[in-house]
Amino acid sequence: MMCSVGTDVAHAAQLLREGNVVAFATETVYGLGADAFNSHAVARVFEVKNRPRFDPLIVHIPDRSWLSRLTDRVSDDAEKLIDRFWPGPLTVVFPKTDAVGDLVTSGLPTVAVRIPDHPQALDLIAAANTPIAAPSANPFGRLSPTRSEHVAEQLGDRIDYILDGGPCRVGVESTVVQIDEHGVNILRHGGITVEQIEDVIGSVVNEKTVLARGAVVSPGMLPQHYAPSTPLEVVDDLTALATNESRVGLLSLQPVEDSSGFAAIEVLSPNGDLTEAAANFFSALRRLDATDVNLIIVKPFPETGLGRALNDRIRRASARA
Ligand code: TXA
Ligand code: MG
Repeated sequence: MMCSVGTDVAHAAQLLREGNVVAFATETVYGLGADAFNSHAVARVFEVKNRPRFDPLIVHIPDRSWLSRLTDRVSDDAEKLIDRFWPGPLTVVFPKTDAVGDLVTSGLPTVAVRIPDHPQALDLIAAANTPIAAPSANPFGRLSPTRSEHVAEQLGDRIDYILDGGPCRVGVESTVVQIDEHGVNILRHGGITVEQIEDVIGSVVNEKTVLARGAVVSPGMLPQHYAPSTPLEVVDDLTALATNESRVGLLSLQPVEDSSGFAAIEVLSPNGDLTEAAANFFSALRRLDATDVNLIIVKPFPETGLGRALNDRIRRASARA
């Protein structure tokens, strides 16, 4: 049976308080929410998503003052980042308090937290009166939802309610950072860019450095992720494209010179604006996936600003299990 979709915040909050799972909009992507302090509700999130238990969830709060329920250690750098980017698409990993259960953090001694920049989400969490654990509202490994219809298509028969908050403004997930003695480590590129973080903090230790040191790595860095059902390939030079596939779709930042040979094309931003491209990214990929193409080609994005987050998504989408 298909769940209901609506804009009733009080109803959604009531469902969350009762331990149910509710999808809701944030500025990045739709989340699949549950009371972070209710382990049964959190377990349901893993079941609904078919998500491996080793992949921890982000806890969402409506207000900085709630942070003390989740962590008792906020470093100076974390404080600076919070001041600048909350509410917004930045998730910060903190040492957790005992109040945070092992299921939410997958047994890690840390908890990931953010304040979403979406008025309806903030109202929802405040009304539920409990921090909300929420991964993106898609089956594990698949495309993230940026509209309520996407959630309905993928998970509508498995959840209790979809709180419709319109299309997501940012379109890619939050940036996940963890701060240690080496500085700020980017565990996942996302809606807040490296440049924006460096502006506040100075230098940034990137994802590859973290991997090389063998530090605890975010499970979200799994090579295969964000995948459409159609095979996807990242191709630098379209003129050198060689494929045996008869029907090829193209996802491109800007219009291409020679569009012959493509059965379908999605252009993300006519002027090459990466913010606009991010907002359109998952919807465009879904539309291509819904055509009858048997291969999706993506041109890499400029490796700057939100281009890093987009390149990360397409590389993982192209990785075959
Ligand atoms: O924008 C977003 O972040 C969205 C919206 C709904 O807030 N949520 C989201 O959740 O993308 P999810 O579950 O798809 O991604 C959470 C990421 C994963 O890469 C996970 O491994 C990482 O955060 N993460 C969560 N807790 C962590 C922790 N304690 N240490 C390291 N990484 C953590
Ligand atoms: Mg996700």
